Amino acid sequence: MKVSAQRRSELIAAAQQARSNAYAPYSKYTVGAALLAESGEVYIGANIENAVYSETICAERSAVFGAASKGERKFSVIAVATENGGAPCGSCRQVMSEFGLDTLVLMVNSEGEVVREATVGELLPMSFGPDDLATS
Ligand code: THU
Repeated sequence: MKVSAQRRSELIAAAQQARSNAYAPYSKYTVGAALLAESGEVYIGANIENAVYSETICAERSAVFGAASKGERKFSVIAVATENGGAPCGSCRQVMSEFGLDTLVLMVNSEGEVVREATVGELLPMSFGPDDLATS
């Protein structure tokens, strides 16, 4: 899916803005995400930590769940903003893969630079997904 330079810039800015609302008092590693749905809507998410550490939610899953809760099912791009352009964790890769392997993931650092980019399918090869359940 081709995404314009302007769209990329908008998503990067939205992810950085979302990152400023992250709640990460324990790790101090703040993450923001901006997810472009095929409807054209942008959904944001941030990591929200918890004193029970395992209850923390990542920025990417926060964005995907928010979007899916609004009825969205197809996503073209997600920008993920961190200090160092870190890649999405395995759980987020799995959740993103549910809605398509072609979603482009932009990994953005605190300077707003895209450090790396890859599709969800590239980040999660040989994945288990909806098609695997369709045969049973
Ligand atoms: N985190 C995310 O928000 N997304 C990822 O894909 C990697 C990790 C968050 C979870 C936790 O709040 C902090 O970063 C450190 O792991």
